[in-house]
Amino acid sequence: MFLDRQNTNRVIFMDGKEAAGRKAIDEIREGMTVGLGTGSTVYYFLQVLAEKVAEGLSITGVATSQKTVKLATEWQIPMKPLNSVDQIDITIDGADECDPSLNGIKGGGGALLYEKLVAKASKKRVWIVDSRKEVEQLGSFPLPIEVIPFGWKQVRQAMENKGYRPELRLNEQGEPFVTDAHHYILDLHLRAIQDPASLAAELDHVTGIVEHGLFVGMTDEILIGYPDGHVGTLSRKDILRRSGK
Ligand code: 5RP
Repeated sequence: MFLDRQNTNRVIFMDGKEAAGRKAIDEIREGMTVGLGTGSTVYYFLQVLAEKVAEGLSITGVATSQKTVKLATEWQIPMKPLNSVDQIDITIDGADECDPSLNGIKGGGGALLYEKLVAKASKKRVWIVDSRKEVEQLGSFPLPIEVIPFGWKQVRQAMENKGYRPELRLNEQGEPFVTDAHHYILDLHLRAIQDPASLAAELDHVTGIVEHGLFVGMTDEILIGYPDGHVGTLSRKDILRRSGK
C-alpha cells in the first residue's frame, strides 16, 4: 500500500509483484515480439500489456505456458507460437529466487522448459520479482527438474544418491504434476547451492532430465518490487560496471 504522489487523497494497494509486473511495461516498444512468462507476477504485466494493446500498441506475444496462452488470449493480446518467430526482442518473466549475480531458480509454476527455450531465443531477458525472491545464495527454494515419465524413478534414485533430496511434484489430486510438454517434475531440496554454474552443467548431462530450473547468466535485468510500491533494478550492465569490466 502506498500514497499516490500525484493525488495524495488516493491510497493505492499494490504488492511487490504488482509493482514489478506493472513497471515492466516501460520496457515494451511498438512492434516488438515479446516473450510472455508464467506466474502470478507476470499476471500483472499481462494485465497492463493488454490495456496498452487495447489502446493501440502493436506487439506480438510468445507465451511460455498454456496458462499464459489462455490469459493472453482472453485479454486479446496477439500471439504467435515460438516456432513461428525467428527471434524475440524481449522476454518478461518471473523467478522463484534470484541472487546478486543475476542467477536464479525458475519453474515453481512448472513452465521451466518452455521458459528457458523462450529466454534463449530472446535478445533481452527481464525478470520481475517481489523483494522476497532476492537471496544471497540460491537453494532455499526447491530446484525443479523436468524429467521424462519413462524411467523417472531411475532419475529420482540418481538424485537421491547424490544427496539432492528429490520429491515428485504432485497436483491437487495427489497425482504426478504433468507439464505442458507432458513430463514430470522432481523438486530437489538442496537448501544451498554453492556453485550454480557447475550444478547446472552437472544436471545438463543426466539422462532423463529434460531441463532444470537453474537459469545461470540468463537474465539481463531484474525488476524488484517492494511492498511500498517502489521498484528497484539490478542489471548485468551495473554488475559489469561495478566489477570494472
Ligand atoms: C513458472 C515460473 C515462475 O516465473 C515463477 O514460479 C515465479 O512465479 P510467481 O510470479 O507466481 O511467484 O518460473 O515456471
